[in-house]
Amino acid sequence: MPVVALISGRGSNMQALLDAGIPLAAVISNRADAKGLAIAAARDVPTAVVEHRAYATREAFDAALAAEIDRYAPRLVVLAGFMRILTPRFVERYAGRLMNIHPSLLPDFPGLDTHARALAAGAKRHGCTVHFVTSELDHGPIVIQAEVPVLPGDTADALEARVLREEHVIYPRAVKWFLDGRLDLRDGKVRVKGGDAQLVTAPR
Ligand code: GAR
Repeated sequence: MPVVALISGRGSNMQALLDAGIPLAAVISNRADAKGLAIAAARDVPTAVVEHRAYATREAFDAALAAEIDRYAPRLVVLAGFMRILTPRFVERYAGRLMNIHPSLLPDFPGLDTHARALAAGAKRHGCTVHFVTSELDHGPIVIQAEVPVLPGDTADALEARVLREEHVIYPRAVKWFLDGRLDLRDGKVRVKGGDAQLVTAPR
């Protein structure tokens, strides 16, 4: 099966992929306590844990992670709430077939606490981005983005929930495009064959 998902926690994006019928060959976590592992196992998806704390260096962890991934010979590797920085060597190994979802409208707010930071910055719009992974954290060619309004009185939690709903829409869409051979990655830009919108605005 063509897709391996890497998770670190809750796994709601991984679940959205399964709900959309994306065939996951395996779900791999860097944490044994990731809640998403049980969700995957309940749906008969093989799971594995490559515990980052068991490795002395990032390079050693990434090599072990790659060995586990490659057992499934996936076409695509998706980061679905995978909260580890990957080495350039790992990123290079999966160049053009490694995707991430990030809870902001990149290039705005790379890194952590994106919702609180968007509120603190007085942003009027916020959202999420699916992108191909490059060595630069939370950068890389953008496949699709979803935009949500920031509403008066929003808290970081309310904004997170509004954004997460959109993550669950755009990640399956991006992965389907990839598996259907519709993504053309050239000169650091992604074009969708057929011209489907790469920016969607919620509420739709
Ligand atoms: C999601 O909001 C995802 O965009 C974010 O972590 C959350 C994981 O939730 N990822 C990042 O911040 C990566 N930089 P999930 O485990 O329920 O999918």
